[in-house]
Amino acid sequence: MRLVVTGGAGFIGSNLVKFLLQKKINILNFDALKYSSNIKSLNIEKQNKYYQFIKGNICDEKKFLQLLRKFKPNGVINLAAESHVDRSIDNPAPFLKTNIFGTYSLLKASNTYLSNLDKKEKKFFKFIHVSTDEVYGDLPLNSKPANELSSFNPSSPYAASKASSDHLVKAWARTYNLPVIITNCSNNYGPYQHPEKFIPHTIISILKNKKIPIYGNGKQIRDWIHVRDHSDAIFKIFKKGKIGETYNIGASNQKRNLEIAKIIFSVLKTFNKKKNNKNFFHNVNFVKDRPGHDKRYAIDGNKIKKLGWIPKVNFEQGIEETVKWYLENKNWWSKILKNKYKLERIGKIK
Ligand SMILES: NC(=O)c1ccc[n+]([C@@H]2O[C@H](COP(=O)([O-])OP(=O)(O)OC[C@H]3O[C@@H](n4cnc5c(N)ncnc54)[C@H](O)[C@@H]3O)[C@@H](O)[C@H]2O)c1
Repeated sequence: MRLVVTGGAGFIGSNLVKFLLQKKINILNFDALKYSSNIKSLNIEKQNKYYQFIKGNICDEKKFLQLLRKFKPNGVINLAAESHVDRSIDNPAPFLKTNIFGTYSLLKASNTYLSNLDKKEKKFFKFIHVSTDEVYGDLPLNSKPANELSSFNPSSPYAASKASSDHLVKAWARTYNLPVIITNCSNNYGPYQHPEKFIPHTIISILKNKKIPIYGNGKQIRDWIHVRDHSDAIFKIFKKGKIGETYNIGASNQKRNLEIAKIIFSVLKTFNKKKNNKNFFHNVNFVKDRPGHDKRYAIDGNKIKKLGWIPKVNFEQGIEETVKWYLENKNWWSKILKNKYKLERIGKIK
């Protein structure tokens, strides 16, 4: 099997690429290597014959079409995106460009590529578009988790750009018969996630003896899934998912942000040799809430279970393993802090 993965140098992409390489699938990783990427996350031996990397922007339709014609994949898994909500509020333009125009360019290139294949070759091609639960917007506390039929109600420029891209993918399926599947997954955690995201940010703040910044009252609820389970789900959907369908991916771990910070704080207390004797609330800094901040996301993941997928990572174990990974891989994240990113950014949206 031969797959093109876009955004394979990012958090989920790098975990997915390594997951697929273990299954001896030929991978072409296409990534623009933006600030959120880290080629070191891939850590793939040079002689690995299953892996190739091409630097490129998903807005470059011509380059992507050439790549498809040369590599002749059985599918494209599109993860390339601008992904951080805070940045989308500060400066929405790159989000609209990559997430909307970039997805359009990939769809157009894939369609042109398919139009020159014979029937048999066409049968084996799928375009998997990786999207988010944020397209469903803010769910009331007492409402059921979002399922595949829930309406889109995005709140942030990030969520709106992903919702737009999902609509484009559906339009290309209906109008041009492009064989697509959309996935909408809940919040991911695990190794190699950029320090700007909530879980690594909390771990690193504690490790650097800084207060943990918490937006508003910290009561926002997110539904967490380990990135390994997400990778496994994407692969299952690639193999068994029905063309034209959408699959929600979730592990039913709804937790408040403050609760997550508390869990990380206590896990680090048990791991960290440097004892922190102050209580949790001494280590928290409640900062001005993010504009338009959604209070709750929750995902109904029953449909994908019918394909034979279930999440395997228990949340408590997964978070412990993740905290341990950041403790043991200071080199990976301290370079990002040095070069490109300041921990103090949180709470300073214009
Ligand atoms: N992180 C989550 O919790 C989560 C949850 C559900 C869905 N998703 C979706 O999964 C995908 C991956 O998310 P992530 O958290 O790994 O993001 P990330 O920001 O860590 O990685 C994004 C990757 O895309 C690349 N990229 C950005 N713009 C590009 C462009 N124009 N051309 C080519 N490459 C480009 C970056 O260089 C980076 O390697 C995104 O589409 C996101 O919307 C993320």
